[in-house]
Amino acid sequence: MRKRSPEALLADLLRAAARARENAHAPYSQFPVGAAVLAEGRIYAGCNVENSAYPLSICAERNAVAAAVSAGARRIEAVAVVGGQARPAAPCGGCRQVLAEFCAPGAPVVYSNALGERIATTVGELLPSAFSAVDLAPIAAEPESIGSARGRSRAAPGTSRSAARRRGTRSSGR
Ligand code: THU
Repeated sequence: MRKRSPEALLADLLRAAARARENAHAPYSQFPVGAAVLAEGRIYAGCNVENSAYPLSICAERNAVAAAVSAGARRIEAVAVVGGQARPAAPCGGCRQVLAEFCAPGAPVVYSNALGERIATTVGELLPSAFSAVDLAPIAAEPESIGSARGRSRAAPGTSRSAARRRGTRSSGR
């Protein structure tokens, strides 16, 4: 089978997102959203699912990501979202973080409203300087931190040289 062009794939994704939006459970906001992600060659879609206990509501993008991950996929190559009237609804901040977990910064994101107006961007543009697994990695072993356990335990938390350096590294990196 011939490989689909990136434009054709994005059109497929938008169609899948629009179809999922029809299943949105949004009786409280009256704001239905559909999302679709292309992950390892397959399309996974989701809609927003609200709850009478409002904070338990889940966004369409997160449900699409959950569908992909539940099917075993780990890399998301492209994202489409359909929602909004006056203007296309951009993914919320929380969803941007969830997308960044599985997408490269260059992964295309297209979002569109019900009228078909579209905005094309990337995950990296939506969430620059994302917090990621890299931030959770322990800092590289440093000479003074390779010592006896006794030496390490003497330093009060937050007062050690490595902790100071860690703080400095973080602040200078932002
Ligand atoms: N919503 C999404 O599904 N995705 C977003 O990125 C923004 C907001 C949903 C959540 C809620 O059900 C409704 O839209 C109104 O906020």
